[in-house]
Amino acid sequence: MATRDGTVTAGMGHDLHTTATGAAARHHPEADRQGGPELSIVVPTFNEAENVPLVVMRIAEALAGVRWEVIFVDDNSPDGTVAAARKMAQSDPRVRCLRRIARRGLSGACIEGMLASSASAVAVMDADLQHDETLLPRMLESIQQGADIVVGTRFAAGGAAQGGLSRVRHWGSRFATQCAKRFLGVQLSDPMSGFFMMRRELFDAVAPGLSTHGFKVLLDIVASSKQPLRVVELPFTFRARQHGQSKLDSLVVLEYLGLLLAKLSGDWLSIRFVLFSLVGSTGLLVHLWALQQGLALGLAFDWAQTVAAYAAMTSNFVLNNQLTYRDRRLRGLSALKGLITFYAVCSVGTIANVGVANWVYGSRPSWWLAGTAGALMGVVFNYAASSVLTWRRS
Ligand code: GDD
Ligand code: MN
Repeated sequence: MATRDGTVTAGMGHDLHTTATGAAARHHPEADRQGGPELSIVVPTFNEAENVPLVVMRIAEALAGVRWEVIFVDDNSPDGTVAAARKMAQSDPRVRCLRRIARRGLSGACIEGMLASSASAVAVMDADLQHDETLLPRMLESIQQGADIVVGTRFAAGGAAQGGLSRVRHWGSRFATQCAKRFLGVQLSDPMSGFFMMRRELFDAVAPGLSTHGFKVLLDIVASSKQPLRVVELPFTFRARQHGQSKLDSLVVLEYLGLLLAKLSGDWLSIRFVLFSLVGSTGLLVHLWALQQGLALGLAFDWAQTVAAYAAMTSNFVLNNQLTYRDRRLRGLSALKGLITFYAVCSVGTIANVGVANWVYGSRPSWWLAGTAGALMGVVFNYAASSVLTWRRS
C-alpha cells in the first residue's frame, strides 16, 4: 500500500506478491504495477456507451501514481455499453466489465461490483461524469489516514449541485436527507450521494445485509454498520450530464420511503414487502372509487363490488410491476400472463383473508381486530405467492 509520502509497504492480501517483487518494487516505480490495485472503482452503467472511454481517461489522469482498477457493472444496456467497456479492457488490464443479465438496479449493481473487486479501498462513482474524479486521490488519502468511509457531498460548504440537479430533484434530495437524519440517525450532509469510497473491511462487514433494491446504497451501508464509523465528507460540484439521460424517475421517491421503513423495522421487513403493502393500500382507494362509480352507473351492489375488486387488482398489478418489481418488470405477453396469475393469487388471498378474519372473530368478536388480522393475512399471502408465481426470478 502506498502511504502518503510515497513509500510502499505490503498491501493487504497481497503479501505473497509483495515478497516476491518487493525489492524491485522499491527501486523501480514501473514495477509497482505488478502489485495488485490499491483502489477499486466500481462504476454502475446503464446506457453509458459514450461515457465509458471518457470515464477511464479521466480516472487515469486523476490517479496517476496510484494502482487502481475500474469495474463497470452493466445491466445489459441495449446501447452497447458492454462492448465499449470490453474494448477499453482489451488494451488496459486495469479495466474490467461485469455484465448482468435479466437484472436491473443501481444498488445491486454497485454491490456486485464491490464484491468482484479486490483492493483494500473501494469506491463507487457514476459513469456520466457528473462526479468529480479529481476528488479520488484525496478520498484515498483520507482512507489511508484512518477514515472508514469518505463521501463526496454536494451539500456541505464548498459543494454544489446546481448544474446537475433540477429544482425538484434538489428539493427532494434535501427532504430525503432530513428523513435520514431524523429517522435513521444518519448524520451525513448528502446521504443520497452516489460518490463515495470505503475500507474493504467495512464493506465486507455490511455486505450480507445490504438491499439490492433501489438506489440508496450509501445510506444502506452507513445505516447497516453496527460500529460507529469514522466518516469524512469532501465537497464537490455535481456537474451536468454530458451524454445520455438520468435513469432515476419519480418512483425512486417511493423506493426511498420503502428503504426508510425497512431500516426502521430493523430490517425485519424487506423493502419489497413495504412497497407491496404501500401499493396494496392504494388498491383500497382504487377499490372504493371504482365501487362508487359502479353504483353511480346503476350496477347492482354485488356486480359493482366485483368490478371494483378487479379494478383494484389490476391497478395493484400495474404499480407492483412498475415499482415493487421494477427490476423484474414483465412486458408484453409475459405481463398478460402475470396479470392472470396475479388475479388468481389475489383470489386465493381473499379466501385466506376472510378465513383468518372469521377465525379471529370467532374467538374475540372485535370487528377491527378480525378485519386487520384478515387483511394482514391477505397481504402476506399475496406477497409470498405473487413473488413465486407472478414475478418469479427468471
Ligand atoms: N448497472 C446499472 N443498473 N446502472 C445503473 C442503473 C441500473 O439499473 N440505473 C442507473 N445506473 C447508472 C447510470 O448509468 C449512471 O452511471 C449511474 O448509475 C447514476 O445514474 P443516473 O441515472 O445518472 O442517476 P442521477 O444522476 O439521476 O442520480 C445521481 O444522483 C443521485 C442523487 O441525486 C446518482 O449518483 C444517484 O446515486 C444519486 O442518489
Ligand atoms: Mn447522473
